[in-house]
Amino acid sequence: MSFLASALSNVKPSPTIAISMKAAELKASGKDIISLSMGEPDYDTPNNIKQAAIAAINKGDTKYTAVDGTAALKKAVIAKFQRENNLEYKPSEICVSTGAKQVIYNALVATINAGDEVIIPAPYWVSYPDMVLLCGGTPVIVDSSEKNNFKISPTALEEKITPKTKWLILNSPSNPTGSCYSAAELKALADVLVRHPHVHVMADDIYEHLIFDDLKFATICEVEPKLKDRTLIVNGVSKAYSMTGWRIGYGAGPEKLLKAMSMIQSQSTSSPCSISQAAAVEALNGVQDYINDSKAVFQSRRDMVVKMLNKIDGINCNTPNGAFYVFPSCKGLFGKKTTAGKTIENDTDFAAYLLEEALVAVVPGVAFGAPDFFRISYAASEEFLQNAMNRIAEACNKLK
Ligand SMILES: Cc1ncc(COP(=O)(O)O)c(C=O)c1O
Repeated sequence: MSFLASALSNVKPSPTIAISMKAAELKASGKDIISLSMGEPDYDTPNNIKQAAIAAINKGDTKYTAVDGTAALKKAVIAKFQRENNLEYKPSEICVSTGAKQVIYNALVATINAGDEVIIPAPYWVSYPDMVLLCGGTPVIVDSSEKNNFKISPTALEEKITPKTKWLILNSPSNPTGSCYSAAELKALADVLVRHPHVHVMADDIYEHLIFDDLKFATICEVEPKLKDRTLIVNGVSKAYSMTGWRIGYGAGPEKLLKAMSMIQSQSTSSPCSISQAAAVEALNGVQDYINDSKAVFQSRRDMVVKMLNKIDGINCNTPNGAFYVFPSCKGLFGKKTTAGKTIENDTDFAAYLLEEALVAVVPGVAFGAPDFFRISYAASEEFLQNAMNRIAEACNKLK
């Protein structure tokens, strides 16, 4: 009998973390590595937020809090949903957790029975399928195409719905593609879901504030209120306020679900960090200038990166409307040989080649369920990005 749980046999460690660790190893050995594999803003947390945390420490807010979040943070979260999404929630419909990641995990643990299906559009965030597998569920992948900016169609969604479908996970703006669904596109998907009342929706809105080109963010139950009592919104302060290390995420949805998620949290990690919660109150209630300032910078970096990538023979890169990722195709380089005589057969070979030859770390698309592509995070300075794009171009031009 194996000591490790059988559910683990299907699960793999996060490939994005594996690449980042390999890049860090090479860097430690003295190599001048540029890592574009990270999933976090390069900015520091805004000062008003840091000061709120320091004040919390000095005030003695250093003890356990209510498991599902302090009253002050729940109030700030409720106000955020009213202000930004036209959605009303009660405190019993909110749970604050240690990152959006824990919100998602709690929700899956709370709802998945063996064999339950979870529909996940590909390219997907690496953790969704593995979390579903860990809970004994079955990920059901819906493919999308580069031509359609990696967005799924209502028909493709409906084809995957079965009596066993428990959730659809929608992530817009998306990690890894940066694609965003417009309100009209969400409405078309919602029309399908209205016909299948047993399907719940997990709307992972963590990149809500990283949206460009005057596109307006929309979330599915704002667009179709009939879905509100079966939608869990997942959000947090990690990406919007450059607070990835503070570990605060929150979920909003039907009370019965949120209560179950809070119960799971009470038996695993208890409340999120008291100091981080005080900082998150300031993030949500304080001045919001940071969001607009960082958005403008990310948009100009995106433009530069997309332009430089599209100048490279064999690479094709769409212009995404959000997040801080681009997801170019490297298919045009398959079959070519490196100067060492190795053939680039796929995206994994290509990413390995970029790491060795260009000393640039990117993540192969296969990690996100989309071979033929690779993910670049442009959460890095312009100079850094320019240097990386030049190195990638040089390495690609050497392929024959
Ligand atoms: C799509 C998506 N959802 C959720 C998360 C988790 O966010 P947090 O750091 O708040 O746990 C990430 C982080 O990379 C993400 O990309």
